[in-house]
Amino acid sequence: MSGQKSRGSWRSQIGFIFAASGSAIGLGNIVFFGSNAYRFGGGAFYLPYLTALFVIGIPLMIMEFGLGSITGRSFPEAMHRLAGKSGQFVGWWALLNAAFIAMYYVTILAWVTGMMIGSFGELFATSAFSLPAFGLSSEQLPSRAHAFFFDMLSSWQTVAFVFIVWGLNIYLVRRGAETIERAVRVFVPLMWAFMIVLIIRGVTLPNGFHGILKLFTPDFDGISNFQVWQGAFSQMFFSLTLGFGVMTTYASYLPKEADQINNSLMVSFMNCGFEFIAGLAIFSLLFVFSLTPTASTLSMTFFVVPAGIAQLPALVQAFGFLFFLLLLLAGLSSSISLVEGFVSALLDKFRMNRARAVLYVSGACILGSLACALPKVIDAGLNSNGTLGLTLVDLIDHWAFSYGLIIVGLAECILIGWVFGVSKLREAINAHSKFRLGVWFDWLIKLVIPILILLPLVSNGFAELSGLYGSSYQLGEWSWLPVSVFSVWIIGTLTLAAVFTFKGHYLQG
Ligand code: PHE
Repeated sequence: MSGQKSRGSWRSQIGFIFAASGSAIGLGNIVFFGSNAYRFGGGAFYLPYLTALFVIGIPLMIMEFGLGSITGRSFPEAMHRLAGKSGQFVGWWALLNAAFIAMYYVTILAWVTGMMIGSFGELFATSAFSLPAFGLSSEQLPSRAHAFFFDMLSSWQTVAFVFIVWGLNIYLVRRGAETIERAVRVFVPLMWAFMIVLIIRGVTLPNGFHGILKLFTPDFDGISNFQVWQGAFSQMFFSLTLGFGVMTTYASYLPKEADQINNSLMVSFMNCGFEFIAGLAIFSLLFVFSLTPTASTLSMTFFVVPAGIAQLPALVQAFGFLFFLLLLLAGLSSSISLVEGFVSALLDKFRMNRARAVLYVSGACILGSLACALPKVIDAGLNSNGTLGLTLVDLIDHWAFSYGLIIVGLAECILIGWVFGVSKLREAINAHSKFRLGVWFDWLIKLVIPILILLPLVSNGFAELSGLYGSSYQLGEWSWLPVSVFSVWIIGTLTLAAVFTFKGHYLQG
């Protein structure tokens, strides 16, 4: 029997909280939140955002944690126990979809590593820059950060960084909960400390406070737009690591009697608190130097924020290094959770050796991360999609992030709500909690959340599939790319999910 011992367990409650909040707090909080808020209407974004947090995010986290502690199993098996084969299929699909996210997520971390190393070198140097980057002209490289970034992308260095970041991932999950806990106990407090340093720097700049207003000035034009709502929901799923199958696995390493309502509230508030102060730090910095935030999350990370840091009165290199180190630590504590979520599911079902499972999962993802690091220029217009790698990141992100996560959330609600019967899960969760969920929770899971997710999904989905996302790119001879990425994602994940579901069987049922 593969008993509880070999699955691993957290040494302490706080270890679990660090691990789960480390998974939640990542690139999503530090840069994606700010640019999404800016793109989706500043202060007006808070209405969909808070709806997403209280109506969808926290209840789903309670459900995903509850699933883990009640079954003591990883996501596909937990879903199988509650809802049979279709539950298991959704479980695998969630992990595969999340693996696509891990591919580009690690590539972004590879670029972050390059920028971090460059902080003490060319990135913030004051001499004129004359970088060869793909032979682009200086008008195409409006800032030193642009030049540095594209130069890095053109040089294959990122391939080495991809291996380094995956190497770190493998090292940190090599013994599952045990090594993860040791890492997050260091990473998470450091992340908070670095963030606090950055916010103090931001708001103590002359006028820094005004930037914050920008983040709160509401632009209500967007609020009636379904895209804004879907944007807020996807951002919340991504940020809280919901629909990834990760939270269930992490909760399965806790004792059965853990208070999951308390845990969910703690992790959600820590995550959104972090996101909130990150928004303040970044917007104050940008405002002072009259930099316009951009809707593109990657431009914010690699161009706009570094351009702001470059104009700080002192310690430019140190702040630059700190910013990218913060991103790297936050990103690593997220990506390891995904590897662990997948590995643990493989161990539960196929009872293979842990080292081998880690190698399979990371090996497959490394190929994807390398593809996202390809330097070939395919859009000379550089509409923020200058290279093949960047375009791939954008396209995969579009499907796996904007659609994949919320589709998993919808399927979870329907299967647990209607097939299993959410009241049974609610009673099991209530049995170990001081706070008690009422019948309202059942209706939230059965009806309210599905409707909230379905409305934008259907309205945007149809429009997109007819145009198959791509018309906005100037891809020339690469115009086949958007359709191919969509096909690989949808056919690949569905087929593999079916293979994992029907191959082998669980010890019980
Ligand atoms: N929650 C993470 C973030 O906000 C997203 C993530 C989780 C990405 C797990 C990869 C793996 O950045």
